[in-house]
Amino acid sequence: MIDIHHHLLPGIDDGSRDVASSVAMVQMAVDDGITHIVATPHANHAYNYDRARNRALLDEVQAALPAETAGRITLGLGCDFHLNFENVEDALRHRDRYTINGTEYLLIELPDFNIPTRTEEVLYNLRVAGLTPILTHPERNQTLQRTPKRLQEWITSGLLVQVTAGSVAGTFGGKAKDLAWSLLRSGSVHFLATDAHDTVRRPPRMQEARLEVEKRMGKAVADQVCVENPLAVFEGRPLPPSAIATERASNADDETHPFWKRLFRRPV
Ligand SMILES: [Fe+2]
Repeated sequence: MIDIHHHLLPGIDDGSRDVASSVAMVQMAVDDGITHIVATPHANHAYNYDRARNRALLDEVQAALPAETAGRITLGLGCDFHLNFENVEDALRHRDRYTINGTEYLLIELPDFNIPTRTEEVLYNLRVAGLTPILTHPERNQTLQRTPKRLQEWITSGLLVQVTAGSVAGTFGGKAKDLAWSLLRSGSVHFLATDAHDTVRRPPRMQEARLEVEKRMGKAVADQVCVENPLAVFEGRPLPPSAIATERASNADDETHPFWKRLFRRPV
């Protein structure tokens, strides 16, 4: 599995405390079946983002890995990018500064409670500049939980969506879990990722969520959101065609959610 959202770098945000913690997080991820991690430190009002420093920290973590672990993991660099004015202006001027491995893909973090004004306009401007935004964990945003139609309009217009693996199991509450599954069922989730911050409270695990998605929606869907799509992002390729529409048709459990199914219906 490929984890495109992980606060792995030591001592620079609310993720890993130090290099030893980072090594433990990598080890836990490897044990869970993760083969690639994108280190995505915050860039917001609380945490400054410096690409060169972050690259050096990633190299430090890489060098500290035991040989056996190092042979089973590939590390990359991205950013958990907050949509404030300064960030957006800088990203528009320096396209590769915040993206995953210097590709076109950019993780976009919303606040937990609200949607900043002009969000649609900013997302549009980023796309016009050649960036491909990936919205992180919309299922955890309280405004989008209340107004999922607004989110669906963004997705229909081409916005990519990453759901947190923990949301699938209910770690972030019932509303986040309900929206995560509604999005999954409608084929509106492109990636699962851990958004790991440590090895205890927010651990780097995806396997449980992957198996749950496989159980409810089939292996093709689970592979797409945990392996194929995130690997394409890691390597800077276009996403493969969606397997979800066909899998959704055979998902009997869908019938228990007629409202969401109608709300999020897409032409097949
Ligand atoms: Fe994050």
